[in-house]
Formats: sequence, C-alpha cells, structure tokens
Amino acid sequence: MNTTALVGAQWGDEGKGKIIDILARSADYVVRATGGSNAGHTVVNGDKTYKLHLIPSGILYPDTVNIIGNGVVIDPKVVLEEMDSLTALGVKLDNLMIDLRAHVVLPYHKEIDELAELAKGDNAIGTTKRGIGPCYADKCDRIGIRMIDLLDPDVFGQKLRANLELKNKIITAVYGGKPLDFDSIYAEYCGYAKRLSRFACDTGTVLYNAIKANKRVVFEGAQGTLLDLDSGTYPFVTSSHPITGGFCAGAGVGPTAITECLGIAKSYTTRVGAGPFPTELNDKVGEHLLHVGHEFGTTTGRARRCGWLDAVILRLAVRINGLTALAINKLDTLSGLKKLKIATHYMRNGAVVDEFPADISILEGCTPVYEEFEGWDDDISSCKTFAELPKSAQVYINAIERLSGCAVTMIGVGPDRKDIIYK
Ligand code: GDP
Ligand code: IMO
Ligand code: MG
Repeated sequence: MNTTALVGAQWGDEGKGKIIDILARSADYVVRATGGSNAGHTVVNGDKTYKLHLIPSGILYPDTVNIIGNGVVIDPKVVLEEMDSLTALGVKLDNLMIDLRAHVVLPYHKEIDELAELAKGDNAIGTTKRGIGPCYADKCDRIGIRMIDLLDPDVFGQKLRANLELKNKIITAVYGGKPLDFDSIYAEYCGYAKRLSRFACDTGTVLYNAIKANKRVVFEGAQGTLLDLDSGTYPFVTSSHPITGGFCAGAGVGPTAITECLGIAKSYTTRVGAGPFPTELNDKVGEHLLHVGHEFGTTTGRARRCGWLDAVILRLAVRINGLTALAINKLDTLSGLKKLKIATHYMRNGAVVDEFPADISILEGCTPVYEEFEGWDDDISSCKTFAELPKSAQVYINAIERLSGCAVTMIGVGPDRKDIIYK
C-alpha cells in the first residue's frame, strides 16, 4: 500500500497545492476530504498559474483520478465555474468524481456567514464568507442538503423549502436581513444539478477498491492544523477537521489506509483572518515577508499576516497529524534577511510554555523565545540540491528538523512545480 496524506502544518496557505501537484505526477488518485471553497490552492506550471478551490490539485494530470470526498462542502456554482475555467485552459475533467454524501453550500449559508460575521463586530472570525461554517452546522444539525438530494428535484425541492423557511426567519428576525426567494434558488440549483450529475458517485467505494488494488493515493489537505475545529486556535478556526485524522472521515477510509503523513509548512508563518499569532511581525521583516512572499489570499485577496517560523506550532502539527516528514516551502522568500529567527518555546508569567496552549487567552499572554540564525543574500531559486544551498540555509533547515522533531524531505525554492529540492 502506498498512500500519502498531505496536510497543512500551520494556518493554511503553506503551498499545499504545489506539493500535491508534484506528488500527483506519480499518483493514481488525488482526494480532497475536508473544507470547501474557502481553500485556495495555487499550482504553477511554467507560464500557467491555476488557482483551485474545490477541484483537487491533481487535475492537471489526465490519468490521475481526482476525488472530492464526502467530507467536503460543495458550492455547486463555484465548482462549475472552476470546471469551466479549467476546460477553457484545455484541462480534461473526465477523471473527476464528487461524492454523493458531500453536503451542498446554498445561498442561505453564504448569507448567514456574512450576516453572522457582521453581527460579531470586533469578535468576527474573519471567515472567507463562503458559507462554510453554516453549511457544516446544518450537517451536524442533520438538516443539511447532500449531493444525492440535490440530484433528485423532488427531494431537493422539499428539503430546500423546509430549510429556507427556517433560514429566512433567522436572516430576517435575528440579523435584520432580506429573505431569500425559493423559486429562483430552486431553478438555479436544479440547473447546477443537471451539470454535476455525471460526476457524482460513491467515491468511498472507488477509493477502497483502489487502495486494495495497491494504487498510489494522495490525500489533499485544505486549510491547516491550527484551523482545525478541535486542535486549532478555537474559535478562530474553520468548521472542519483539516488534520490527517479528519481525512479518514472525509474520504470514507479507515486510518490504516494512510501510510505516510507529509506536513506542509512555510519557512515562516502566515495567517489570514483574526485570532492570536505569537510570532507575528508588524515591522520591516513582516513587510519583507508580505511583499517578497506575495502573501495575499488566493481566495479573498486579503493581505496575510506574517511572522517568524514557530516550532511550537510545528511540534503540535507533528503530534496531531502523526507526521512522517515535513516539506518546507518558500525558503527563497527569506533571502536577503540578515538575521532569521525560529520560536523554540514561549514564556508566560515567568514560566516556560512549550506545548501549544488549549486556551487562546493563555496563548495571547505568551511571548515567543527565539533561536537566531544567520541569513543569506544569494538567490536560491535555481538551487537543485541541498548541498547547493548556502551554508546558512542548510543550518536553518537542519534547525527546523531538530526543533520540530521531524525530517524535512522537500524544500520549496520557488512557486513552480520544478522549484523543489529533495533532501
Ligand atoms: P495552499 O493553500 O497551501 O495551496 O497555498 P496557496 O496557494 O494559498 O499559497 C501559497 C503561495 O505560495 C502560492 O502563491 C504559491 O504559488 C506560492 N509558493 C508555493 N511554494 C513556494 C515556494 O517554495 N517559493 C515561492 N516563492 N512561492 C511558493
Ligand atoms: P487553504 O486550503 C488560510 C481561515 C479564514 C478564517 C478561518 C475561518 O488555501 O490553506 P472559514 O471561511 O473557513 O469559515 O474561515 O479560516 N481559512 C483559511 N486560511 N488558508 C485556507 O485554506 C483557509 N480556509 C479558511 O481566513 O480565518
Ligand atoms: Mg491557500
């Protein structure tokens, strides 16, 4: 059996799309198991850049089967727009499958996401406003509409009517918004259902048979460990389980179906949206990371908050995801900085904190303690081997291994699929 789970080790946007695309070259299946169109994964191949939200990042290889699993929440409009733009670029979609059990994001989810954020005021989470939280909430409340429901006009009509009656009360009475119209949503989404029906199937069974037949399967993580509903910086998290444990439920496979767990991190840390961020930098170094690293959201275009690498976070990711290796992206972004820092642990009220705290109010009171490293000036984007990297860059990578307790096997030195060093 030869399967790998790729998981974000920080707050998302670690460059998962690039690594998945690289691994997909030799994969038979790529599977998305969690999240929805809140994800934005970038794949760069020569002069072409693809920005993917719901469609797995293995789609550029015509022989790789791409599965959107049952744990993903599907926005039919977004997935169809994505399909159309890929088709226009000459990408074939014949090998795309969407699970029948996946829940559907509907206009009232997006409306409530937006209104709830507004109502929270200063306590807003800074969501992507893609309706993710409200859709997963309906799933847990057992009133969600699944792909299998969407494909049956009668069942869809009944469920939509019942839900809309309830949601319109919430939209108007709780948030003072305008009610949504049943007829127009019904007609629009029945149209989407017709276009999506050929992709819908029981993907858990397909995957089970593929794994039994020893096919190479890659699980594509979305978001990252610190956005996990249980292990992340609650409540400033997403509403799913973007950790390797969540991939089993979201792809419909057992834990023994995953053999390798590769964590993806950047050589520094970023975060979009609100919530504590101990190593955040509001200075010239932060500006360097933002501009040299082009740290603007793939989904919302928001500037990402930037800071030093945090080994406390990496150790949490190693532990929670059972990581067998780490890929470190964007080492090239650090070029030109005289000194580099990695947080080894935190201090709080005079005491050492070396495990990521459960309570964000404790995290907010933590001051990072740093180990300092020499930087490098050289452009490293054309380095092909670890030995070609400047000595100080090698020291930095070796320190990541020492402080995280995990081997670094891949190092990103540029956005293209060829900009990778294997260690
Ligand atoms: P994802 O959500 O984890 O797939 O990451 P995003 O696509 O949202 O953000 C990562 C950004 O970094 C994208 O613009 C990538 O093209 C870019 N990227 C990935 N790896 C590297 C790297 O090693 N160096 C540089 N300079 N850019 C990279
Ligand atoms: P990828 O897959 C970075 C963040 C949002 C917000 C919080 C909750 O590209 O790494 P949500 O819309 O999910 O309810 O928002 O989670 N967030 C991400 N941040 N990368 C992502 O995905 C994200 N998906 C959600 O910014 O802080
Ligand atoms: Mg992203």
